[in-house]
Amino acid sequence: MPASKLVRPDIEFRDSYLEALAEYHAEGAYDYIDYSRVRADFAEFVKQLRSDRFAFHRPFQDWVEPVPETVLWLIKDGIYIGTVKIRHRLNWHLEKWGGHLNFIIRPSMRGGGFGKKILQKAMPVANYLGIDKALLTVAPGNRPAIRIIEFCGGVFEDEPPETERFPARRRYWLDCT
Ligand SMILES: CC(C)(COP(=O)(O)OP(=O)(O)OC[C@H]1O[C@@H](n2cnc3c(N)ncnc32)[C@H](O)[C@@H]1OP(=O)(O)O)[C@@H](O)C(=O)NCCC(=O)NCCS
Repeated sequence: MPASKLVRPDIEFRDSYLEALAEYHAEGAYDYIDYSRVRADFAEFVKQLRSDRFAFHRPFQDWVEPVPETVLWLIKDGIYIGTVKIRHRLNWHLEKWGGHLNFIIRPSMRGGGFGKKILQKAMPVANYLGIDKALLTVAPGNRPAIRIIEFCGGVFEDEPPETERFPARRRYWLDCT
């Protein structure tokens, strides 16, 4: 059986990505991605994702300097499994909330080890993009993500408390060299 792999977004994965997007929306994730628009012009959606343009910084989009972001999809047996975003550098917003690496596995595929796989596979790519130490930020109650980050070697930095603007986040540094 072929192994999972990280690839650039591609129209080849349209059907399974759209299924996954519906799953994400059902749990409240990626609500800023318009399902109808993506379905109507998947090629344009993929083109945007492949442009490495910038990380999306809700709710501070207008206040934050843009940072290039490489988006990769985890694929297995030709099916979309999850997404990892690699921000090429940090800005003040990503330092507090977001970090260099952000990953998600589609809800129907969770619990099968893909969360560990996607981060492990993203680390050398991050390093290729010039990141030696990657910052990851995670909600203190997100047990699966914390396990994954610590399993991959993440070193705990701190846990800034919730503020008016930001939710609490545990911050980790991950050696990608
Ligand atoms: C976090 C996430 C990527 C995990 O994906 P996954 O495919 O389920 O992860 P894995 O199957 O590799 O499991 C990772 C670990 O979490 C553990 N885990 C799973 N569910 C858990 C739970 N409810 N409580 C505690 N640990 C849990 C697993 O046992 C596993 O640890 P182990 O192998 O040491 O036993 C997925 O839940 C997700 O996409 N969440 C939403 C986005 C998100 O939180 N991303 C992280 C941003 S930093």
